[in-house]
Amino acid sequence: MNFATVGTGWITESFIQAARLSEQLHLVSVFSRTEEKGKKLADQYNASSYYTDIEEMAKSKEFEAVYIASPNSVHFEQALTFLRNKKHVICEKPIFSTTAELEEAYKTAEENGVYLFEAIRNIHTPNFKILKEKLHEAGKLRSAILPYIQYSSRYDLFLQGEEPNIFSAKYSGGALADLGVYPLYLAVGLFGEPNKVTYHPVILRSGVDGSGTLVLEYDEFVCTILCSKISHSALPCEIHGEKGTFVLEDAAPITEIQFIDSHTKESQILSVEQEEQNMVYEGINIAEIIESKNDEEYKRLKHWSEIVLRITEEARKQNNIIFDAEK
Ligand SMILES: NC(=O)c1ccc[n+]([C@@H]2O[C@H](COP(=O)([O-])OP(=O)(O)OC[C@H]3O[C@@H](n4cnc5c(N)ncnc54)[C@H](OP(=O)(O)O)[C@@H]3O)[C@@H](O)[C@H]2O)c1
Repeated sequence: MNFATVGTGWITESFIQAARLSEQLHLVSVFSRTEEKGKKLADQYNASSYYTDIEEMAKSKEFEAVYIASPNSVHFEQALTFLRNKKHVICEKPIFSTTAELEEAYKTAEENGVYLFEAIRNIHTPNFKILKEKLHEAGKLRSAILPYIQYSSRYDLFLQGEEPNIFSAKYSGGALADLGVYPLYLAVGLFGEPNKVTYHPVILRSGVDGSGTLVLEYDEFVCTILCSKISHSALPCEIHGEKGTFVLEDAAPITEIQFIDSHTKESQILSVEQEEQNMVYEGINIAEIIESKNDEEYKRLKHWSEIVLRITEEARKQNNIIFDAEK
């Protein structure tokens, strides 16, 4: 399937490289706001065209799908532009700023007979699938702690008085939207929708969260998600059941999974080696869903996106974190 890209950051290059590895997605066009960056990316990856006008690009017959990796608050308008022109959209996480945007975009996708996906790499990997299959071996789940704490070099700029997009309410940034969504997707994918959500953020001068603790309450089980862009951690993820504990080296990508038996304390490694360019798995899965019109799998992913955005929206509301997109 032919595809195009929007945005010229490093993540777009990663997706293009993953698409090549997948052998299912072929880059034909790129979009940039500037001719210079568009031409450079197109030349680098042998795309046959580049655009600086997104409406014009969306009308192109050269490609069936587009990958969007612009700042978070820009996703919605760009996605709608492509959906209205009957292009499948693969939109970077966090897909949109609000659940109202998500609802409208899914409706537009349906009306135009195309699919809309949130690009979240960890849930498409073989190791996530292994974890999901083996989860019952832990017995009754009691607690989980899923951290994603990674100091951002852009925080240095923030400390110098600048406001990088990812620390800005104008661009729908913040720790939960940027990093928290990875462990949150794990939680939703493994445990489903929680009964109750509570968020305890550290709010920066820009009005968004630099770090935070998200508590997800289930029946007789509590999952705690820690996310931060303003500090660093070496803490692994853990899921504690009565019969055993899963230890994950990271929430994304899930590189190593260890299972420790509660009684014998014996441990075993369950994970497999994955491609270093782990975006390849989402590329393959999404291309297959589109090609085979796999509505069932599409609806499952759509449902997870809806739950995740509902949770992050609720977490922001509790703490008066308001994006410009909803003002
Ligand atoms: N899946 C992952 O592992 C992963 C990793 C990193 C980021 N992401 C996601 O990818 C997206 C992009 O992140 P990023 O850090 O690359 O963002 P960014 O640097 O702020 O912007 C990405 C690109 O969007 C374009 N852009 C910048 N400002 C814009 C604006 N105001 N309006 C329209 N386009 C604009 C720029 O391309 P041009 O100048 O060429 O137009 C830029 O290269 C985010 O949603 C982020 O959450 C995902």
